[in-house]
Amino acid sequence: MRRAEAPRLLVTGADGQLGRSLRMLAMQHPDAARYAFLTRSQLDITQADAVHAWLDAHPADCLINAAAYTAVDRAATEPALSRAINADAPGLLARACAARGIRLLHVSTDYVFDGRLDRPYRESDPTAPLNTYGRGKLAGEQAVLNADPRALVVRTGWVFSAWGGNFVRTMVRLGTERDTLRVIDDQIGGPTWAGHLAQILHTLALRPEGEAPGGLYHFGGQPWTSWHGFALEILNRAQARGLLARLPHIEAISSADWPAPEPRPANGRLDCTRLEALIGPLACDWRIGLDRVLESWQTASA
Ligand SMILES: NC(=O)c1ccc[n+]([C@@H]2O[C@H](COP(=O)([O-])OP(=O)(O)OC[C@H]3O[C@@H](n4cnc5c(N)ncnc54)[C@H](OP(=O)(O)O)[C@@H]3O)[C@@H](O)[C@H]2O)c1
Repeated sequence: MRRAEAPRLLVTGADGQLGRSLRMLAMQHPDAARYAFLTRSQLDITQADAVHAWLDAHPADCLINAAAYTAVDRAATEPALSRAINADAPGLLARACAARGIRLLHVSTDYVFDGRLDRPYRESDPTAPLNTYGRGKLAGEQAVLNADPRALVVRTGWVFSAWGGNFVRTMVRLGTERDTLRVIDDQIGGPTWAGHLAQILHTLALRPEGEAPGGLYHFGGQPWTSWHGFALEILNRAQARGLLARLPHIEAISSADWPAPEPRPANGRLDCTRLEALIGPLACDWRIGLDRVLESWQTASA
């Protein structure tokens, strides 16, 4: 039975990859916390009156903000909307939480960096986002930490899950449609399974405040790879599970061969030492997460 004093955790953006992964975790550990999940239609985080009214009516110990505008290229064509969700709303949430003594856990991105460093990025490294999405997310994390130094901001990258649009889903779909896939090989990072990210946020949310100091933390998957390396692994494993009839040819190309509307950093590797020092060894092998995702699709298609 769940303990009456189990922490009360609110999750915004509950229908996204991270939100759904937190729901799975809550179902697996029903005694650990009293979770409440809010989809966009239940709480739009850009609406100040609704945010204040919800927090007044539903006392919580911690709010995990899994809501975001994540369409990187589209952010440039919808700058006002993406900024409202990624930059302004996190500041609003942080102020509303601080006023009520609620600890905020917010999520940001490796795209706050320009990717020119020749080593993994530490929390203290200078930011210099290359695109509209990264600039909005950077403004969001700054607004959070300015409003509430107790808040935790976890930067991550290359998130995938069994739900929503992501690189794994795109590769498996294209692998069934095409004989050849051309995939960028000069951008490197750490693919992050949303299940691992959810576990990190759950762990941080359950930590007593004195054992989880506010500020920036990095969390990303291991081992580091390129989009091309990730695609090879996805397609090989998908074929082995019968999700692909045959393996397409997977050609390595450079970013210059595939100019995106919005530039991406070449180096998205995140140094997770600070988080590891706080909570111990990190479960972050994306190949384990990839198998879980493919397994769920295999079961669904059986
Ligand atoms: N995906 C990645 O590769 C990636 C990489 C680095 C960092 N991150 C960060 O990781 C976090 C989680 O990302 P994710 O992949 O789980 O994102 P996601 O799958 O796109 O989910 C985001 C969720 O937020 C909701 N949302 C959008 N605007 C909202 C609003 N105004 N009020 C309430 N909810 C709203 C979306 O609803 P709708 O579907 O209705 O829009 C969606 O359910 C985000 O902070 C993101 O920036 C993601």
